[in-house]
Amino acid sequence: MNKTIGALFLALSTSSTWAATGEETYKAVCSTCHTQGVANSPKIGDAKAWGKLIKEGQVNLTADGYMGVRGMPARGGRADLGVADFANAVVYMANQSGGNWQNPDEAMLKKINARIDKRSAAKK
Ligand code: HEC
Repeated sequence: MNKTIGALFLALSTSSTWAATGEETYKAVCSTCHTQGVANSPKIGDAKAWGKLIKEGQVNLTADGYMGVRGMPARGGRADLGVADFANAVVYMANQSGGNWQNPDEAMLKKINARIDKRSAAKK
């Protein structure tokens, strides 16, 4: 691939999707609220608050957070954030707070998406 095409490709691939690690997404999007516990958000590292959330299960917690819960804006307020990137950021926060979750595989992503679809349908 020549340099121009390579740069173009990079520009396209970075602008169309937000592909990052859970930690990067957390720092760029979620930390605004979750570092200090803004608006009563569960603070990263707060094992007590996260212990309860972790018990809800990874599929449910990820899907509900993605859709938005009270003070928690849908997708963390970032409209172009995909489910997988959001899910990995949730894993990062949970694991900084006493959890031991893995980034979701295809099968789990399917379940998360199914729950998101169900909730979207219920809202209409
Ligand atoms: C504008 C502030 C804000 C931002 C930005 C934000 N959150 Fe939140 N989040 C909240 C608040 C407030 C709650 C608590 C909601 C409640 O239970 O009342 C919350 C709750 C959550 C929960 C628990 C949901 C549940 O079912 O109880 C998860 C998971 C979560 N956030 C993940 C994220 C992730 C991942 C990001 C970044 C992609 C993010 N948040 C960005 C404010 C924010």
